[in-house]
Amino acid sequence: MCGIIGMVGEGAPEFVVRGLRTLEYRGYDSSGIAVAKGGVVFVQKGVGTIDRIVSEPPEGVAAIGHTRWATHGGVTEFNAHPHLDCSGKYAVVHNGIIENHTALRQELVGRGHVFTSETDSEVIVHLFEEGVARFGDYEKALNYVLSKIRGQYAFVILTADGAILAARNGAPLLVGRSENATFVASDPVPLLGVASEIYRLRDGSYAVVTRAGAHISGEAQRVPEISARRVELGGYAHYMEKEIFEQPRALRDTLDYLRREEISLELDGRVHLLAAGTSYHASLYGEYLLRRRGIDARAFVASEYGSWKGREPDYIIAVSQSGETEDVLSVLRNQEGPEVVAITNTPGSTIEEYANTVIYTRAGPEVGVAATKTYTTQLLVFAHLFSGERPDKLPELAGQVIESAKPLAERLADELARKNNAYFLGRGLDVVTAREGALKLKEISYIHAEAYPAGESKHGPISLVENGFPVFFTASPDTFDETLPNVHEMRARGAEVVLASSEPSELAEYWFSVPHVSEVIFPMLSVIPWQLVAYYTAVRRGLNPDRPRNLAKSVTVR
Ligand code: M6R
Repeated sequence: MCGIIGMVGEGAPEFVVRGLRTLEYRGYDSSGIAVAKGGVVFVQKGVGTIDRIVSEPPEGVAAIGHTRWATHGGVTEFNAHPHLDCSGKYAVVHNGIIENHTALRQELVGRGHVFTSETDSEVIVHLFEEGVARFGDYEKALNYVLSKIRGQYAFVILTADGAILAARNGAPLLVGRSENATFVASDPVPLLGVASEIYRLRDGSYAVVTRAGAHISGEAQRVPEISARRVELGGYAHYMEKEIFEQPRALRDTLDYLRREEISLELDGRVHLLAAGTSYHASLYGEYLLRRRGIDARAFVASEYGSWKGREPDYIIAVSQSGETEDVLSVLRNQEGPEVVAITNTPGSTIEEYANTVIYTRAGPEVGVAATKTYTTQLLVFAHLFSGERPDKLPELAGQVIESAKPLAERLADELARKNNAYFLGRGLDVVTAREGALKLKEISYIHAEAYPAGESKHGPISLVENGFPVFFTASPDTFDETLPNVHEMRARGAEVVLASSEPSELAEYWFSVPHVSEVIFPMLSVIPWQLVAYYTAVRRGLNPDRPRNLAKSVTVR
Protein backbone atom coordinates (compact mmCIF):
# COMPACT_ATOMS: atom_id res chain seq x y z
CA MET A 1 0.00 0.00 0.00
CA CYS A 2 1.05 3.64 0.01
CA GLY A 3 4.25 4.54 1.79
CA ILE A 4 5.48 7.85 3.21
CA ILE A 5 8.99 8.98 4.01
CA GLY A 6 10.49 12.37 4.85
CA MET A 7 13.52 14.01 6.37
CA VAL A 8 14.74 17.41 7.53
CA GLY A 9 18.54 17.63 7.53
CA GLU A 10 21.67 17.27 5.35
CA GLY A 11 21.28 14.72 2.55
CA ALA A 12 17.48 14.60 2.87
CA PRO A 13 16.74 13.88 -0.84
CA GLU A 14 19.16 10.93 -1.00
CA PHE A 15 17.76 9.53 2.24
CA VAL A 16 14.21 9.84 0.93
CA VAL A 17 15.07 7.98 -2.29
CA ARG A 18 16.79 5.24 -0.29
CA GLY A 19 13.82 5.14 2.07
CA LEU A 20 11.39 4.82 -0.83
CA ARG A 21 13.33 1.80 -2.05
CA THR A 22 12.93 0.13 1.34
CA LEU A 23 9.18 0.80 1.13
CA GLU A 24 8.90 -0.89 -2.26
CA TYR A 25 7.99 -4.19 -0.62
CA ARG A 26 4.65 -2.71 0.44
CA GLY A 27 3.51 -2.61 -3.20
CA TYR A 28 2.93 0.53 -5.31
CA ASP A 29 2.09 1.75 -8.79
CA SER A 30 3.55 5.28 -8.81
CA SER A 31 6.11 7.19 -6.84
CA GLY A 32 7.36 10.70 -6.24
CA ILE A 33 9.54 13.03 -4.23
CA ALA A 34 9.42 16.71 -3.25
CA VAL A 35 12.56 18.62 -2.25
CA ALA A 36 12.75 22.02 -0.55
CA LYS A 37 15.61 24.20 -1.69
CA GLY A 38 16.12 27.95 -1.71
CA GLY A 39 12.48 28.75 -0.96
CA VAL A 40 11.15 26.53 -3.74
CA VAL A 41 9.62 23.03 -3.74
CA PHE A 42 10.80 20.77 -6.59
CA VAL A 43 8.65 17.75 -7.43
CA GLN A 44 9.52 14.63 -9.44
CA LYS A 45 6.77 12.06 -9.76
CA GLY A 46 5.17 9.60 -12.12
CA VAL A 47 3.90 6.12 -12.80
CA GLY A 48 6.41 3.35 -12.25
CA THR A 49 9.34 2.38 -10.13
CA ILE A 50 11.30 4.68 -7.88
CA ASP A 51 14.47 4.13 -9.90
CA ARG A 52 12.70 5.28 -13.05
CA ILE A 53 11.00 8.29 -11.49
CA VAL A 54 13.31 9.72 -8.84
CA SER A 55 16.76 8.24 -9.13
CA GLU A 56 18.55 11.60 -9.20
CA PRO A 57 16.75 14.06 -6.95
CA PRO A 58 17.84 17.69 -6.67
CA GLU A 59 19.83 18.68 -3.57
CA GLY A 60 17.92 20.23 -0.69
CA VAL A 61 17.49 20.74 3.05
CA ALA A 62 14.29 18.75 3.46
CA ALA A 63 12.41 16.23 1.36
CA ILE A 64 9.38 13.98 1.36
CA GLY A 65 8.58 10.95 -0.79
CA HIS A 66 5.69 8.62 -1.51
CA THR A 67 4.85 5.29 -3.05
CA ARG A 68 1.23 5.22 -4.22
CA TRP A 69 -1.17 2.29 -4.47
CA ALA A 70 -4.11 3.83 -6.29
CA THR A 71 -7.50 4.11 -4.58
CA HIS A 72 -8.99 7.51 -5.53
CA GLY A 73 -8.15 8.34 -9.13
CA GLY A 74 -6.38 6.21 -11.76
CA VAL A 75 -2.70 5.35 -12.00
CA THR A 76 -1.45 8.54 -13.68
CA GLU A 77 1.38 10.99 -13.28
CA PHE A 78 -1.02 13.71 -12.09
CA ASN A 79 -2.45 11.44 -9.41
CA ALA A 80 0.99 10.39 -8.14
CA HIS A 81 2.07 12.13 -4.93
CA PRO A 82 3.41 14.69 -3.88
CA HIS A 83 0.70 17.23 -4.75
CA LEU A 84 1.45 20.95 -4.80
CA ASP A 85 -0.76 23.85 -3.71
CA CYS A 86 -1.46 26.74 -6.10
CA SER A 87 1.54 28.80 -4.94
CA GLY A 88 3.95 25.87 -5.38
CA LYS A 89 5.31 26.48 -1.85
CA TYR A 90 3.80 23.41 -0.20
CA ALA A 91 3.64 19.75 -1.15
CA VAL A 92 1.70 16.89 0.44
CA VAL A 93 1.98 13.10 0.50
CA HIS A 94 -0.90 11.15 1.99
CA ASN A 95 -1.95 7.61 2.92
CA GLY A 96 -5.56 6.73 3.66
CA ILE A 97 -8.84 8.32 2.66
CA ILE A 98 -10.25 11.83 3.11
CA GLU A 99 -13.93 10.96 3.30
CA ASN A 100 -15.30 14.49 2.74
CA HIS A 101 -12.91 15.35 -0.09
CA THR A 102 -15.65 15.98 -2.67
CA ALA A 103 -17.33 18.70 -0.61
CA LEU A 104 -13.98 20.23 0.36
CA ARG A 105 -12.81 20.28 -3.25
CA GLN A 106 -15.98 22.10 -4.35
CA GLU A 107 -15.53 24.69 -1.62
CA LEU A 108 -11.86 25.20 -2.47
CA VAL A 109 -12.57 25.49 -6.21
CA GLY A 110 -15.25 28.05 -5.31
CA ARG A 111 -12.53 30.03 -3.53
CA GLY A 112 -10.30 29.97 -6.61
CA HIS A 113 -8.09 26.91 -6.01
CA VAL A 114 -7.00 24.97 -9.08
CA PHE A 115 -6.70 21.18 -8.75
CA THR A 116 -4.37 19.11 -10.89
CA SER A 117 -5.29 15.58 -9.77
CA GLU A 118 -8.35 13.41 -9.17
CA THR A 119 -7.14 12.37 -5.72
CA ASP A 120 -8.79 12.96 -2.37
CA SER A 121 -5.32 13.91 -1.06
CA GLU A 122 -4.92 17.18 -2.92
CA VAL A 123 -7.50 18.99 -0.75
CA ILE A 124 -5.02 18.79 2.16
CA VAL A 125 -2.40 20.97 0.54
CA HIS A 126 -4.90 23.57 -0.70
CA LEU A 127 -6.41 23.79 2.79
CA PHE A 128 -2.92 24.19 4.21
CA GLU A 129 -2.20 27.01 1.78
CA GLU A 130 -5.39 28.74 2.95
CA GLY A 131 -4.47 28.14 6.58
CA VAL A 132 -1.03 29.73 6.19
CA ALA A 133 -2.57 32.73 4.41
CA ARG A 134 -5.13 33.09 7.19
CA PHE A 135 -2.99 32.48 10.30
CA GLY A 136 0.58 33.10 9.10
CA ASP A 137 1.75 30.10 11.15
CA TYR A 138 2.40 26.50 10.07
CA GLU A 139 1.08 24.83 13.20
CA LYS A 140 -2.13 26.85 13.12
CA ALA A 141 -2.49 26.13 9.41
CA LEU A 142 -2.12 22.41 10.14
CA ASN A 143 -4.79 22.62 12.82
CA TYR A 144 -7.02 24.38 10.31
CA VAL A 145 -6.55 21.42 7.91
CA LEU A 146 -7.28 18.93 10.68
CA SER A 147 -10.46 20.78 11.64
CA LYS A 148 -11.74 20.47 8.06
CA ILE A 149 -10.89 16.91 6.98
CA ARG A 150 -12.63 13.67 7.97
CA GLY A 151 -11.34 10.16 7.43
CA GLN A 152 -8.43 7.87 8.12
CA TYR A 153 -5.13 9.34 7.14
CA ALA A 154 -1.45 9.89 7.63
CA PHE A 155 -0.06 12.85 5.73
CA VAL A 156 3.09 14.90 5.55
CA ILE A 157 3.42 18.43 4.20
CA LEU A 158 6.73 19.90 3.05
CA THR A 159 7.18 23.68 3.00
CA ALA A 160 9.49 25.57 0.66
CA ASP A 161 11.57 26.79 3.60
CA GLY A 162 12.32 23.24 4.68
CA ALA A 163 9.79 22.39 7.40
CA ILE A 164 7.74 19.21 7.60
CA LEU A 165 4.30 18.89 9.17
CA ALA A 166 2.95 15.41 9.80
CA ALA A 167 -0.43 14.26 11.10
CA ARG A 168 -2.21 10.97 11.58
CA ASN A 169 -5.63 9.58 12.27
CA GLY A 170 -6.10 5.83 11.86
CA ALA A 171 -3.09 5.27 9.57
CA PRO A 172 0.44 4.73 10.88
CA LEU A 173 3.02 7.52 11.05
CA LEU A 174 6.35 7.56 12.84
CA VAL A 175 8.79 10.29 13.77
CA GLY A 176 12.46 9.35 14.10
CA ARG A 177 15.39 11.32 15.48
CA SER A 178 19.12 11.15 15.06
CA GLU A 179 21.76 13.60 16.18
CA ASN A 180 21.53 15.76 13.06
CA ALA A 181 18.24 14.99 11.44
CA THR A 182 14.55 14.28 11.97
CA PHE A 183 12.58 11.76 9.94
CA VAL A 184 8.97 10.84 9.31
CA ALA A 185 7.81 7.53 7.85
CA SER A 186 4.75 5.37 7.61
CA ASP A 187 6.76 2.23 8.34
CA PRO A 188 9.76 1.64 10.63
CA VAL A 189 11.81 -0.22 8.00
CA PRO A 190 13.41 2.88 6.33
CA LEU A 191 14.31 4.26 9.77
CA LEU A 192 16.09 1.17 11.04
CA GLY A 193 19.78 1.79 11.58
CA VAL A 194 19.27 5.51 10.80
CA ALA A 195 17.14 6.96 13.61
CA SER A 196 18.32 6.45 17.17
CA GLU A 197 14.79 6.94 18.53
CA ILE A 198 11.51 6.21 16.80
CA TYR A 199 8.12 7.44 18.04
CA ARG A 200 4.67 6.45 16.83
CA LEU A 201 2.22 9.34 16.61
CA ARG A 202 -1.10 8.64 18.30
CA ASP A 203 -4.38 9.04 16.43
CA GLY A 204 -5.34 12.71 16.25
CA SER A 205 -1.83 13.97 16.96
CA TYR A 206 0.73 15.70 14.77
CA ALA A 207 4.39 16.73 14.54
CA VAL A 208 6.04 19.93 13.36
CA VAL A 209 9.61 19.29 12.21
CA THR A 210 12.19 21.99 11.49
CA ARG A 211 16.00 22.16 11.51
CA ALA A 212 15.71 23.02 15.21
CA GLY A 213 14.00 19.68 16.01
CA ALA A 214 10.57 18.14 16.26
CA HIS A 215 7.59 19.17 18.31
CA ILE A 216 5.03 16.40 18.75
CA SER A 217 1.51 17.25 19.93
CA GLY A 218 0.12 15.00 22.64
CA GLU A 219 1.51 11.64 23.55
CA ALA A 220 3.74 9.61 21.24
CA GLN A 221 4.76 6.02 21.86
CA ARG A 222 8.40 5.01 21.65
CA VAL A 223 8.85 2.11 19.23
CA PRO A 224 11.00 -0.69 20.61
CA GLU A 225 14.27 -1.21 18.76
CA ILE A 226 14.31 -3.80 16.02
CA SER A 227 17.59 -5.11 14.72
CA ALA A 228 18.44 -3.49 11.38
CA ARG A 229 20.50 -6.51 10.49
CA ARG A 230 17.43 -8.62 10.04
CA VAL A 231 16.04 -6.66 7.10
CA GLU A 232 19.07 -7.15 4.90
CA LEU A 233 18.84 -9.62 2.04
CA GLY A 234 22.11 -11.36 2.92
CA GLY A 235 23.06 -13.88 0.26
CA TYR A 236 19.47 -14.72 -0.72
CA ALA A 237 17.89 -13.93 -4.07
CA HIS A 238 14.64 -12.70 -2.51
CA TYR A 239 13.29 -11.79 0.91
CA MET A 240 10.73 -14.56 0.65
CA GLU A 241 13.46 -17.14 0.24
CA LYS A 242 15.37 -15.67 3.15
CA GLU A 243 12.26 -15.60 5.32
CA ILE A 244 11.39 -19.24 4.60
CA PHE A 245 14.93 -20.27 5.51
CA GLU A 246 14.86 -18.13 8.64
CA GLN A 247 12.00 -20.08 10.17
CA PRO A 248 14.09 -22.19 12.56
CA ARG A 249 15.50 -18.98 14.05
CA ALA A 250 12.10 -17.24 14.06
CA LEU A 251 10.49 -20.21 15.82
CA ARG A 252 13.32 -20.40 18.35
CA ASP A 253 13.10 -16.66 19.16
CA THR A 254 9.33 -16.86 19.51
CA LEU A 255 9.51 -19.91 21.74
CA ASP A 256 12.18 -18.29 23.92
CA TYR A 257 10.12 -15.11 24.25
CA LEU A 258 6.90 -16.99 25.11
CA ARG A 259 8.70 -18.91 27.84
CA ARG A 260 10.89 -16.11 29.16
CA GLU A 261 7.92 -13.77 29.52
CA GLU A 262 5.72 -16.62 30.78
CA ILE A 263 3.02 -15.72 28.27
CA SER A 264 -0.30 -17.36 29.06
CA LEU A 265 -4.00 -16.62 28.54
CA GLU A 266 -6.93 -17.69 30.65
CA LEU A 267 -10.04 -17.34 28.54
CA ASP A 268 -13.30 -17.84 30.34
CA GLY A 269 -16.09 -17.25 27.84
CA ARG A 270 -16.85 -16.91 24.14
CA VAL A 271 -13.89 -16.12 21.85
CA HIS A 272 -13.89 -14.59 18.37
CA LEU A 273 -10.69 -14.63 16.32
CA LEU A 274 -10.32 -11.92 13.67
CA ALA A 275 -7.78 -11.71 10.89
CA ALA A 276 -7.19 -11.58 7.13
CA GLY A 277 -5.32 -13.75 4.63
CA THR A 278 -2.59 -15.89 6.12
CA SER A 279 -3.31 -14.59 9.62
CA TYR A 280 -6.87 -15.85 9.16
CA HIS A 281 -5.48 -19.29 8.44
CA ALA A 282 -3.51 -19.07 11.69
CA SER A 283 -6.76 -18.08 13.42
CA LEU A 284 -8.47 -21.21 12.09
CA TYR A 285 -5.70 -23.20 13.74
CA GLY A 286 -6.24 -21.22 16.96
CA GLU A 287 -9.98 -21.84 16.74
CA TYR A 288 -9.35 -25.59 16.46
CA LEU A 289 -7.08 -25.67 19.52
CA LEU A 290 -9.51 -23.58 21.59
CA ARG A 291 -12.46 -25.78 20.65
CA ARG A 292 -10.42 -28.84 21.53
CA ARG A 293 -10.25 -27.38 25.04
CA GLY A 294 -14.00 -26.92 25.11
CA ILE A 295 -13.91 -23.15 24.57
CA ASP A 296 -16.59 -21.64 22.34
CA ALA A 297 -14.32 -20.12 19.68
CA ARG A 298 -14.95 -18.96 16.14
CA ALA A 299 -12.56 -17.52 13.55
CA PHE A 300 -13.75 -14.74 11.22
CA VAL A 301 -12.39 -13.10 8.13
CA ALA A 302 -12.23 -9.60 9.61
CA SER A 303 -13.83 -7.88 6.63
CA GLU A 304 -16.93 -10.07 7.09
CA TYR A 305 -17.30 -9.51 10.81
CA GLY A 306 -19.88 -6.77 10.24
CA SER A 307 -22.40 -9.37 9.09
CA TRP A 308 -22.13 -11.41 12.33
CA LYS A 309 -25.58 -11.39 13.91
CA GLY A 310 -24.90 -13.72 16.84
CA ARG A 311 -23.96 -12.98 20.43
CA GLU A 312 -21.11 -10.68 21.34
CA PRO A 313 -17.92 -12.47 22.36
CA ASP A 314 -16.22 -12.04 25.73
CA TYR A 315 -12.81 -11.98 24.03
CA ILE A 316 -11.50 -11.01 20.62
CA ILE A 317 -8.17 -12.41 19.52
CA ALA A 318 -6.99 -10.21 16.64
CA VAL A 319 -4.15 -11.68 14.58
CA SER A 320 -2.14 -9.45 12.27
CA GLN A 321 1.56 -9.73 11.52
CA SER A 322 1.75 -6.06 10.46
CA GLY A 323 -0.66 -4.80 13.10
CA GLU A 324 -1.89 -2.37 10.45
CA THR A 325 -4.53 -4.32 8.51
CA GLU A 326 -7.46 -1.94 8.23
CA ASP A 327 -10.06 -4.74 7.95
CA VAL A 328 -8.99 -5.83 11.44
CA LEU A 329 -8.45 -2.37 12.93
CA SER A 330 -11.82 -1.08 11.76
CA VAL A 331 -13.55 -3.85 13.73
CA LEU A 332 -11.47 -3.20 16.85
CA ARG A 333 -12.14 0.52 16.70
CA ASN A 334 -15.83 -0.12 17.26
CA GLN A 335 -15.59 -2.75 20.00
CA GLU A 336 -16.31 -1.79 23.58
CA GLY A 337 -17.46 -4.94 25.34
CA PRO A 338 -14.95 -7.71 24.62
CA GLU A 339 -11.44 -7.87 25.97
CA VAL A 340 -9.03 -7.66 23.02
CA VAL A 341 -5.89 -9.75 22.70
CA ALA A 342 -3.64 -8.84 19.75
CA ILE A 343 -1.08 -11.22 18.25
CA THR A 344 1.33 -9.27 16.07
CA ASN A 345 4.86 -9.36 14.71
CA THR A 346 5.23 -5.59 14.77
CA PRO A 347 5.93 -3.93 18.11
CA GLY A 348 4.48 -0.44 18.22
CA SER A 349 1.94 -1.07 15.46
CA THR A 350 -1.54 0.44 15.54
CA ILE A 351 -3.25 -2.75 16.68
CA GLU A 352 -1.63 -2.25 20.09
CA GLU A 353 -3.76 0.86 20.61
CA TYR A 354 -6.92 -1.24 20.59
CA ALA A 355 -5.66 -4.22 22.59
CA ASN A 356 -5.84 -4.97 26.31
CA THR A 357 -3.12 -7.59 25.89
CA VAL A 358 -0.47 -7.83 23.18
CA ILE A 359 1.41 -11.03 22.39
CA TYR A 360 4.27 -10.96 19.91
CA THR A 361 5.63 -13.34 17.36
CA ARG A 362 9.38 -12.84 17.26
CA ALA A 363 9.84 -13.59 13.56
CA GLY A 364 11.72 -10.32 12.88
CA PRO A 365 10.58 -7.95 10.10
CA GLU A 366 8.95 -9.76 7.17
CA VAL A 367 9.54 -7.98 3.87
CA GLY A 368 8.26 -10.45 1.25
CA VAL A 369 4.58 -9.84 0.53
CA ALA A 370 3.84 -13.52 1.09
CA ALA A 371 3.67 -14.30 4.79
CA THR A 372 5.87 -17.27 5.72
CA LYS A 373 7.81 -17.02 8.98
CA THR A 374 5.09 -14.89 10.54
CA TYR A 375 2.57 -17.67 9.82
CA THR A 376 4.51 -20.49 11.46
CA THR A 377 5.29 -18.30 14.46
CA GLN A 378 1.60 -17.33 14.79
CA LEU A 379 0.78 -21.05 14.92
CA LEU A 380 3.46 -21.47 17.55
CA VAL A 381 1.88 -18.77 19.72
CA PHE A 382 -1.46 -20.60 19.56
CA ALA A 383 0.19 -23.95 20.25
CA HIS A 384 2.00 -22.49 23.26
CA LEU A 385 -1.15 -20.87 24.64
CA PHE A 386 -3.71 -23.57 24.03
CA SER A 387 -2.21 -27.00 23.37
CA GLY A 388 -0.25 -27.86 26.47
CA GLU A 389 2.53 -29.27 24.25
CA ARG A 390 6.19 -28.28 24.58
CA PRO A 391 7.53 -27.93 21.05
CA ASP A 392 11.20 -27.84 22.08
CA LYS A 393 12.41 -29.60 18.94
CA LEU A 394 10.28 -27.58 16.53
CA PRO A 395 13.00 -25.16 15.32
CA GLU A 396 15.38 -28.01 14.61
CA LEU A 397 12.68 -30.03 12.82
CA ALA A 398 11.76 -27.00 10.71
CA GLY A 399 15.41 -26.80 9.63
CA GLN A 400 15.34 -30.46 8.61
CA VAL A 401 12.16 -30.03 6.58
CA ILE A 402 13.60 -27.00 4.77
CA GLU A 403 16.76 -28.88 3.89
CA SER A 404 15.04 -32.02 2.62
CA ALA A 405 12.18 -30.21 0.82
CA LYS A 406 14.30 -27.65 -1.06
CA PRO A 407 15.69 -29.85 -3.90
CA LEU A 408 12.34 -31.55 -4.43
CA ALA A 409 10.47 -28.24 -4.44
CA GLU A 410 12.89 -26.89 -7.06
CA ARG A 411 12.34 -29.95 -9.25
CA LEU A 412 8.58 -29.79 -8.88
CA ALA A 413 8.59 -26.07 -9.64
CA ASP A 414 10.04 -26.74 -13.13
CA GLU A 415 6.93 -28.74 -13.93
CA LEU A 416 4.39 -26.71 -11.99
CA ALA A 417 5.49 -23.50 -13.68
CA ARG A 418 3.77 -24.78 -16.85
CA LYS A 419 0.42 -25.53 -15.14
CA ASN A 420 -2.55 -23.23 -14.72
CA ASN A 421 -4.52 -24.80 -11.87
CA ALA A 422 -3.95 -26.81 -8.70
CA TYR A 423 -5.87 -28.19 -5.74
CA PHE A 424 -4.69 -28.37 -2.14
CA LEU A 425 -6.51 -30.97 -0.04
CA GLY A 426 -6.38 -32.24 3.52
CA ARG A 427 -8.52 -33.25 6.47
CA GLY A 428 -8.95 -31.74 9.92
CA LEU A 429 -6.15 -29.32 10.72
CA ASP A 430 -4.51 -30.20 7.40
CA VAL A 431 -7.27 -28.19 5.68
CA VAL A 432 -5.71 -25.10 7.26
CA THR A 433 -2.35 -26.03 5.72
CA ALA A 434 -4.08 -26.71 2.40
CA ARG A 435 -5.64 -23.23 2.47
CA GLU A 436 -2.32 -21.63 3.25
CA GLY A 437 -0.56 -23.66 0.53
CA ALA A 438 -3.14 -22.58 -2.08
CA LEU A 439 -2.87 -18.93 -1.03
CA LYS A 440 0.94 -19.01 -1.25
CA LEU A 441 0.91 -20.55 -4.72
CA LYS A 442 -1.73 -18.27 -6.21
CA GLU A 443 -0.50 -14.98 -4.76
CA ILE A 444 3.06 -15.18 -6.02
CA SER A 445 3.04 -17.59 -8.99
CA TYR A 446 -0.40 -16.54 -10.35
CA ILE A 447 -1.39 -20.20 -10.73
CA HIS A 448 -5.04 -20.64 -9.85
CA ALA A 449 -5.13 -22.75 -6.70
CA GLU A 450 -8.01 -23.78 -4.47
CA ALA A 451 -8.14 -25.62 -1.17
CA TYR A 452 -10.83 -28.03 0.04
CA PRO A 453 -11.38 -30.58 2.74
CA ALA A 454 -10.24 -33.74 0.96
CA GLY A 455 -13.62 -35.45 1.43
CA GLU A 456 -15.43 -32.49 -0.10
CA SER A 457 -13.41 -32.62 -3.32
CA LYS A 458 -15.60 -35.38 -4.75
CA HIS A 459 -18.68 -33.16 -4.38
CA GLY A 460 -17.73 -30.93 -7.31
CA PRO A 461 -14.07 -29.88 -7.57
CA ILE A 462 -12.98 -33.32 -8.85
CA SER A 463 -14.74 -32.66 -12.16
CA LEU A 464 -11.82 -30.45 -13.21
CA VAL A 465 -9.26 -33.18 -12.62
CA GLU A 466 -7.72 -34.76 -15.70
CA ASN A 467 -4.32 -36.10 -16.70
CA GLY A 468 -1.50 -34.13 -15.12
CA PHE A 469 -3.72 -31.92 -12.90
CA PRO A 470 -1.62 -31.14 -9.79
CA VAL A 471 -3.22 -32.06 -6.46
CA PHE A 472 -1.32 -31.30 -3.25
CA PHE A 473 -2.28 -33.43 -0.26
CA THR A 474 -1.29 -32.64 3.31
CA ALA A 475 -1.75 -35.67 5.59
CA SER A 476 -0.59 -35.72 9.19
CA PRO A 477 -0.09 -39.03 11.01
CA ASP A 478 -3.61 -38.50 12.46
CA THR A 479 -5.32 -38.05 9.10
CA PHE A 480 -3.14 -40.18 6.81
CA ASP A 481 -5.34 -43.30 6.65
CA GLU A 482 -8.50 -41.28 6.16
CA THR A 483 -6.92 -39.18 3.41
CA LEU A 484 -5.54 -42.09 1.38
CA PRO A 485 -8.88 -42.95 -0.29
CA ASN A 486 -9.05 -39.37 -1.57
CA VAL A 487 -5.54 -39.71 -2.97
CA HIS A 488 -6.73 -42.85 -4.79
CA GLU A 489 -9.72 -40.97 -6.20
CA MET A 490 -7.48 -38.28 -7.62
CA ARG A 491 -4.91 -40.69 -9.01
CA ALA A 492 -7.65 -42.67 -10.72
CA ARG A 493 -8.51 -39.53 -12.69
CA GLY A 494 -4.96 -38.87 -13.78
CA ALA A 495 -4.04 -36.26 -11.16
CA GLU A 496 -0.39 -35.68 -10.44
CA VAL A 497 -0.28 -36.19 -6.69
CA VAL A 498 2.09 -34.27 -4.43
CA LEU A 499 2.05 -35.40 -0.82
CA ALA A 500 3.39 -33.92 2.41
CA SER A 501 3.19 -36.59 5.10
CA SER A 502 5.23 -38.62 7.53
CA GLU A 503 4.62 -41.88 5.68
CA PRO A 504 5.34 -42.25 1.97
CA SER A 505 2.79 -43.49 -0.55
CA GLU A 506 3.48 -45.01 -3.94
CA LEU A 507 0.50 -43.02 -5.22
CA ALA A 508 2.41 -39.76 -4.91
CA GLU A 509 4.69 -38.62 -7.71
CA TYR A 510 6.33 -36.18 -5.33
CA TRP A 511 6.58 -36.96 -1.64
CA PHE A 512 7.70 -34.38 0.91
CA SER A 513 8.75 -36.09 4.10
CA VAL A 514 7.49 -34.36 7.27
CA PRO A 515 8.60 -35.65 10.70
CA HIS A 516 6.20 -37.83 12.64
CA VAL A 517 4.83 -35.36 15.21
CA SER A 518 1.52 -34.55 16.89
CA GLU A 519 -1.40 -32.93 15.04
CA VAL A 520 -0.55 -29.67 16.84
CA ILE A 521 3.07 -29.50 15.63
CA PHE A 522 2.52 -30.97 12.16
CA PRO A 523 0.97 -27.81 10.57
CA MET A 524 4.08 -25.76 11.44
CA LEU A 525 6.22 -28.21 9.47
CA SER A 526 3.96 -29.40 6.65
CA VAL A 527 3.37 -25.89 5.36
CA ILE A 528 7.09 -25.41 4.65
CA PRO A 529 7.14 -27.56 1.47
CA TRP A 530 4.21 -25.55 0.11
CA GLN A 531 6.02 -22.27 0.84
CA LEU A 532 9.08 -23.55 -1.02
CA VAL A 533 7.06 -24.87 -3.95
CA ALA A 534 5.26 -21.51 -4.31
CA TYR A 535 8.55 -19.62 -4.09
CA TYR A 536 10.47 -21.68 -6.67
CA THR A 537 7.48 -21.81 -9.03
CA ALA A 538 7.22 -18.01 -9.03
CA VAL A 539 10.94 -17.76 -9.72
CA ARG A 540 10.69 -20.33 -12.57
CA ARG A 541 7.90 -18.25 -14.06
CA GLY A 542 10.20 -15.24 -14.08
CA LEU A 543 8.19 -13.43 -11.39
CA ASN A 544 9.43 -11.49 -8.40
CA PRO A 545 7.94 -13.33 -5.39
CA ASP A 546 8.61 -10.38 -3.10
CA ARG A 547 6.36 -8.08 -5.08
CA PRO A 548 3.38 -9.83 -6.61
CA ARG A 549 1.16 -7.65 -8.77
CA ASN A 550 -1.78 -5.85 -7.13
CA LEU A 551 -0.76 -6.94 -3.63
CA ALA A 552 0.66 -5.00 -0.73
CA LYS A 553 2.43 -6.12 2.41
CA SER A 554 0.14 -4.29 4.74
CA VAL A 555 -3.36 -3.61 3.51
CA THR A 556 -4.27 -0.32 5.12
CA VAL A 557 -7.56 0.27 3.27
CA ARG A 558 -10.89 -1.55 3.64
O1 M6R B 1 -0.46 -8.05 8.35
P1 M6R B 1 -1.56 -9.04 8.39
O2 M6R B 1 -1.19 -10.33 8.99
O3 M6R B 1 -2.80 -8.49 9.04
O4 M6R B 1 -1.92 -9.31 6.87
C1 M6R B 1 -3.05 -10.04 6.50
C2 M6R B 1 -3.03 -10.36 5.03
O5 M6R B 1 -3.07 -9.20 4.26
C3 M6R B 1 -1.78 -11.19 4.65
O6 M6R B 1 -1.68 -12.35 5.40
C4 M6R B 1 -1.83 -11.56 3.15
O7 M6R B 1 -2.86 -12.46 2.92
C5 M6R B 1 -0.47 -12.12 2.71
N1 M6R B 1 -0.17 -11.63 1.40
C6 M6R B 1 -0.45 -13.60 2.68
O8 M6R B 1 0.74 -14.13 2.22
